[in-house]
Amino acid sequence: MGVMRLGRAELRVMDLEKSAEYYKNIIGLDETARDGERVYLKAWDEYDHHSVVLKKADSPGIDHLAFKVERSDDLDKFESKIEQFGLTLTRVSNRTRAGEGEAIRFQLPTGHFVELYHEIEFLGTKTGTLNPHPWPDGLRGIAPHRLDHVLMTGDDLTNTTRFFVDVLDFRQSEKIMTVDGEQMVGSFMFKTNTAHDIAFIKGPDAKLHHCAFHVDNWYDVLKAADILTRHEVPIEVTPTRHGITRGETIYFFDPSGNRNEAFASGYITYPDFPTITWTEDKIGQGIFYHRRELMESFVKALT
Ligand SMILES: [Fe+2]
Repeated sequence: MGVMRLGRAELRVMDLEKSAEYYKNIIGLDETARDGERVYLKAWDEYDHHSVVLKKADSPGIDHLAFKVERSDDLDKFESKIEQFGLTLTRVSNRTRAGEGEAIRFQLPTGHFVELYHEIEFLGTKTGTLNPHPWPDGLRGIAPHRLDHVLMTGDDLTNTTRFFVDVLDFRQSEKIMTVDGEQMVGSFMFKTNTAHDIAFIKGPDAKLHHCAFHVDNWYDVLKAADILTRHEVPIEVTPTRHGITRGETIYFFDPSGNRNEAFASGYITYPDFPTITWTEDKIGQGIFYHRRELMESFVKALT
């Protein structure tokens, strides 16, 4: 039993049409379905029905993120573990959203909603699974391989980390601690073998910091910057490297003000990977390795 990966993020957007255009043509996702208030999208290298859901709302942010589990009976097993931890849980019935089977939904100590699911419609990729070419014709925009990770803000990072590690069997790749070592102010966790599948930094509860998409390498991060400038998309941070995860990165904003990231590289992790510690006085270098300081928007622009 177990969580396999981050499967989807449902983002709140204010103008559904404008946002769908942005995620399709600038990010380069494919639309796979839509209903009254939602548009469903997937990256070209993802097999499942969708990884990003845009939901029309009055304010931006994240409705929920969801992890795919290996087996359908994992939901029952996780249900009791999650309730034992003390979180309230509800069942999301089959086909509440397009392509999705049943899910369990609960609220983290940071106030974010998370779902676990197994069943989702399988669409496959344009390159297929038989003698595939490395990428399909007709890619648009940044054209990431997949949804990579989500970073959110909240107050109780200690209990949230404990939940992911003890209940969902994640591991912590890196953490940021106050200089006296007393308080955790950043937590980066993985279940796959990437540097992080989910992360939290200290801040207001229930907020989204950014939603990241995976591109291959440094050149693709640079090319993402070219595409964003060509289309006059607001860029917060031009291409640089993170100290934490060692990833290569660019931050920018969707039409509703949700921060996006094109993220490349970073080390790979294993279950015996020790947790790396950053002290808060080095947080600037941890987040932006070259600039060595955070800009004001990085901590203030939350949705
Ligand atoms: Fe990130």
